Amino acid sequence: MRKVTHQTISEELSQTVLLPCLFTLRPSSSHEPPRIKWTKVWGQRGSDGLQKEQSVLVAKDNVVKVKKAFQGRVTLPGYSINRYNASLALTGLRSSDSGLYRCEVVVGINDEQDTVPLEVTGE
Ligand SMILES: *[C@@H]1O[C@H](CO)[C@@H](O)[C@H](O)[C@H]1NC(C)=O
Repeated sequence: MRKVTHQTISEELSQTVLLPCLFTLRPSSSHEPPRIKWTKVWGQRGSDGLQKEQSVLVAKDNVVKVKKAFQGRVTLPGYSINRYNASLALTGLRSSDSGLYRCEVVVGINDEQDTVPLEVTGE
């Protein structure tokens, strides 16, 4: 598994941000399309060592499912051209969008993940 840590991306309230996520995994002989999942992680680690997590979106082949809390605000602009380009566009930024975004791709038994920290600035 490859893991890349990105610099924090800063963007102002109500703007649009592109959270980059591009995978290097290539399909195995199965020709199975990759499964993509974006999760938001935030808050201090509690006594259980876990942070809060919220699912943002899942995608497989031509089906993209956006979770309710993010409906109408997230898209995968590069995904229709390249199934391994999971870069996420988030529009109408709110201060509550600040946090760490994790993207994962699963192809067969292989998986990769990447995390992108986002900071929303302004009043
Ligand atoms: C991935 O998609 C984003 C959004 O459309 C685009 O800006 C970026 O250039 C794409 N990257 C590659 C390597 O195709």
